[in-house]
Amino acid sequence: MAATDKQPISFAGPFNGILTWVDARYPLMSTIKAHLSEYYAPKNFNVWYYFGSLALLVFVLQILTGIFLTMHYKPDANLAFASVEYIMRDVPWGWLIRYMHSTGASAFFICVYLHMFRGLLYGSYRRPRELLWIFGMLIFLCLMAEAFFGYLLPWGQMSYWGAQVIVNLFAAIPFIGPDLAIWIRGDYVVSDATLNRFFAFHVIAIPFVLAGLVAAHLLALHEVGSNNPDGIEIKDNKDPKTGIPLDGIPFHPYYTVKDVFGVAVFMFVFAIIVFFAPELGGYFLEYNNFIAADPLRTPQHIAPVWYFTPYYSILRSITINFLWVDAKVWGVIAMGISVIIFSLLPWLDRSPAKSIRYRGPIYKSALAIFVVCFIILGYLGTQSVTEGRTLVAQICTVLYFLFFLLMPWYSSLDKCKPEPDRVTK
Ligand code: HEM
Repeated sequence: MAATDKQPISFAGPFNGILTWVDARYPLMSTIKAHLSEYYAPKNFNVWYYFGSLALLVFVLQILTGIFLTMHYKPDANLAFASVEYIMRDVPWGWLIRYMHSTGASAFFICVYLHMFRGLLYGSYRRPRELLWIFGMLIFLCLMAEAFFGYLLPWGQMSYWGAQVIVNLFAAIPFIGPDLAIWIRGDYVVSDATLNRFFAFHVIAIPFVLAGLVAAHLLALHEVGSNNPDGIEIKDNKDPKTGIPLDGIPFHPYYTVKDVFGVAVFMFVFAIIVFFAPELGGYFLEYNNFIAADPLRTPQHIAPVWYFTPYYSILRSITINFLWVDAKVWGVIAMGISVIIFSLLPWLDRSPAKSIRYRGPIYKSALAIFVVCFIILGYLGTQSVTEGRTLVAQICTVLYFLFFLLMPWYSSLDKCKPEPDRVTK
């Protein structure tokens, strides 16, 4: 007799007994059906659809490698740097775990940036996926916080001075700034107290929130269903008898197999970086961070890790004080808005077509200009400031914001091609 009134389900294979027992007490089969074997995804996913599952993979990798790093790392200003060196030299396989974690941080951002770019290509943020996009944006903000807190932990020169620069930005906020900066650091300068709280945020608070947000992200996705390169809602064309979307295929086995292929390619590239170029020319691990933090010696050139540099460039591009407010404060505001503004995309985009395949030349050009500006800003953020570079950063910053601010206007003007009713291939 089953534990509930549910009809017992028989499973094929040697685990039938235990699985039937579990299913009578837990929604095992219904969850597998709803999210895998009977989750119908559009049949026309392309390469851009790999990055969601890859982001998920990197998230798991970061948690697993993070657990092992925490076993040997010491969150103490006097011991932290040496404990990382100890992991690299003495802990069995410690170097591998650490390089996987540091490479994983950059890989996470690569996957998430490409994942977001796919959203811009195919209008994935548009109705009915606005909330899915908002969950994504919250994930992105948490990810930035996670990377920022984690970067202090090795207690190298760049960790120390990077944190000093970023926390000092908060000090620029009128009235509350100086107190706020002390509150964040827990001290007048970045110190042991700062390291301890950043450690707490990095290893428990933010990963916990991230895991919850990723679950909410996937639930929202499965509620509305996936978009696709044609931007067609497959739920609008169902088989009248079975109710199955005509342009859909079950996620398992079709997309589980596709994703496993993506994982294999990803792991191959990931392994090459981990084994042969873990610093990646100073982009993944900065050379200055192999020197222990010295509060009395400021490095000549302080730059954040590559994934923050576009926003850092935007911050530095604001050089004029206006409305009695310091340029630095405007810089901080512009930097904040440059990240948050992505959340407004579902409401800024008025194009009649969803996917770039059917959009007109204006959106295509605007997106291309935006991407070029983003990359230039990213590059400039890694370089020291000169007058010429600041001017280029200012032009790119203006174009960056115009992409969003003028979108309601240019996206409704654009001459789009008619969208098909069914997916094309
Ligand atoms: C930890 C980070 C993230 C994970 C693990 C994750 C995971 C996923 C997965 C597995 C999918 C389905 C497969 C796919 O469409 O590629 C998906 C879809 C989606 N994600 Fe994310 N995601 C993350 C971050 C983000 C961010 C930062 C955004 C945007 C701000 C975002 C927006 C979307 C959208 C709009 C879709 C639906 C796309 C479509 O159907 O065309 N995600 N996500």
